[in-house]
Amino acid sequence: MPTNTESNAGISSVLHEQRVFKPGPEFSEGATIKSMDEYEKQYKIAADDPQKYWANVASQYHWFKKWDTVLEWNEPFSKWFVGGETNLCYNALDVHINTWRKNKAAIIWEGEPGDQRTLTYLQLHREVSKFANVLKRRGIQKGDRVAIYMGMTPELVIAVLACARIGAVHNVIFAGFSAHALTERINDSHAKMIVCADGTIRRGKSLNLKEVVDEALVDTPSIQNVIVYQRTKETIHMQDGRDHWWHDLMGLASEYCPAESLDSEHPLFILYTSGSTGKPKGILHSTGGYMTHVANSFKHVFDVKEQDIYWCTADIGWITGHSYMIYGPLINGSTIVVYEGAPNYPQWDRFWDIIQRHKVTIFYTAPTAIRAFIRAGDEWVTKHDLSSLRLLGTVGEPINPEAWMWYYKNVGKEKCPIVDTWWQTETGGIMISPLPGATPLKPGTATRPLPGILVDVVHKDGTPCQANEGGFLVVKHPWPSMLRTIYGDEERYKTTYWSEVDGMYFTGDGARKDNDGYIWIMGRVDDVVNISGHRLGTSEVESALVSHEAVAEAAVVSRPDEVKGNALVAFVTLKEEFEGNQKLREELRAHVAKEIGPIAKPDDVRWAAALPKTRSGKIMRRLLREMASSKEVKGDVTTLEDFTVLEKLREEEEESK
Ligand code: WT7
Repeated sequence: MPTNTESNAGISSVLHEQRVFKPGPEFSEGATIKSMDEYEKQYKIAADDPQKYWANVASQYHWFKKWDTVLEWNEPFSKWFVGGETNLCYNALDVHINTWRKNKAAIIWEGEPGDQRTLTYLQLHREVSKFANVLKRRGIQKGDRVAIYMGMTPELVIAVLACARIGAVHNVIFAGFSAHALTERINDSHAKMIVCADGTIRRGKSLNLKEVVDEALVDTPSIQNVIVYQRTKETIHMQDGRDHWWHDLMGLASEYCPAESLDSEHPLFILYTSGSTGKPKGILHSTGGYMTHVANSFKHVFDVKEQDIYWCTADIGWITGHSYMIYGPLINGSTIVVYEGAPNYPQWDRFWDIIQRHKVTIFYTAPTAIRAFIRAGDEWVTKHDLSSLRLLGTVGEPINPEAWMWYYKNVGKEKCPIVDTWWQTETGGIMISPLPGATPLKPGTATRPLPGILVDVVHKDGTPCQANEGGFLVVKHPWPSMLRTIYGDEERYKTTYWSEVDGMYFTGDGARKDNDGYIWIMGRVDDVVNISGHRLGTSEVESALVSHEAVAEAAVVSRPDEVKGNALVAFVTLKEEFEGNQKLREELRAHVAKEIGPIAKPDDVRWAAALPKTRSGKIMRRLLREMASSKEVKGDVTTLEDFTVLEKLREEEEESK
């Protein structure tokens, strides 16, 4: 039974949600799956014989060599399309440049200051091939790890695809992460090279990324070369022999670089994500299976057509950017919009302005952004012509029905279906989502699983829950784009995902299924929190706090927040010689930002004489969560939490066990 429903701010309204929005006929006619009957039929065929279903899907794409076996399942390790050879970059670019699509826009890019560039498939292919040669010339071979740390420019897409082209394993690190986080990820993956930018532009200011890289590289023995793309032209330090300018190397590179024929299980990328304990986990994805599910799910969930202009607002530093900005859309030959900056720069209508100017037809964003837009006021949206839009999507956290309705009315003008897509870094691709031409929508639910994806809501012993009964969200059969392992830590892979419920993949989410089989996500059941759609382990923030000289002990929990979904509250016990005051509070927040990144900054820091614990010494987070949600620390007041009040509660809880 889920005990922690913290990431669902709108839980009470969700339980009473009754509205249903049926797909309009004009939409269904053109969709790949046109009705619920058709969906049910396909779902059943796939569930009866998943291997046959997935083999059919995989054969839509280009393989240098066909596979011998669809699935080798040695729980919990899967191999898909065994013996097959393919290349994602080839599927994303080469297959298109032999057709009329060579002159189609692949990327429409807009910088925050307003500068714009468009790259056709042919141009993108040329740049990627050149950069693949640059990587090779700098000693990168098949299987080597390459860290990438840059803002949202076409060069980030080029670097990712160039790695895929030669079989190097990319590890994109979100440009908001700190030097410490960068060092940790580079060392864990033993990256040989880092590709970065001098800086990136955010809210009108340039952020110096190279400085962060220099600080990180003091302690990263595996890095041999740094390639620096010049974006902001600020003064940076270039270390002789180690650091090279992107433009210098590209100037010398040949544009001929055939895509490597790679084993279906060849590692494609590592992406770090937060877990409930310890350091971030390096989620490892591989080639053939990832391609198959990501490309196919993009086609069906977004019902993509040749003339669509698709915009996903996620950063490429997260899984959404990997799967549904780069690989899924480009393999389908779509035109993608890539935007560099903040949603509210120079004003709160930047997104709507981009949609209007580029005639975006499919728009995919996060509930946290929608809630921020609601706050900013409807007039920013209504003054723009958004008539090009035909489909909307959300991802990252549960969307509360109020935000769903606002999105549906103000952005979609009540004509665009909303696909609320549930998935995770680990799942590689979308698992639960409406199919826009088929599924009647209910605000607040990701609805039903995609064909081939066998999810369920179960009790701890694996037995299915009744309708409307809360339980664990699990996956009962391997799927092609599932993570293969946690890089360098098979044990952790087994214990995190495969030991909670016997024989099933444990997602970490609590959920319930309603009478129509629709799945309502109730939030995380572990110590992972979702802040503005970004995942954070509370233990990571705790260790950052404890690394400050003033802190003896810290416990971090979340409380519901209107805009961010959740806000972080830190309960801190100070060492005796330190006094809790506003200055120290700010210092601790800045310290966490420096250790992890600004997204991890606690919203509140509260002083506690001691933390409430069970007899076995476990911090009683449930109690802290209750405290965090019911009381807010205002302004300068330095409160000392009095946990003697909690003593009684604790006794009650222990007695009830
Ligand atoms: C966690 C995964 C998938 C890309 C972005 C986040 C939550 C994600 C939804 C949704 C309710 C959602 C879950 C999940 N989540 N999408 N549509 N409805 N919750 O990827 O950082 O790996 O986080 O995000 O809790 O487990 P991630």
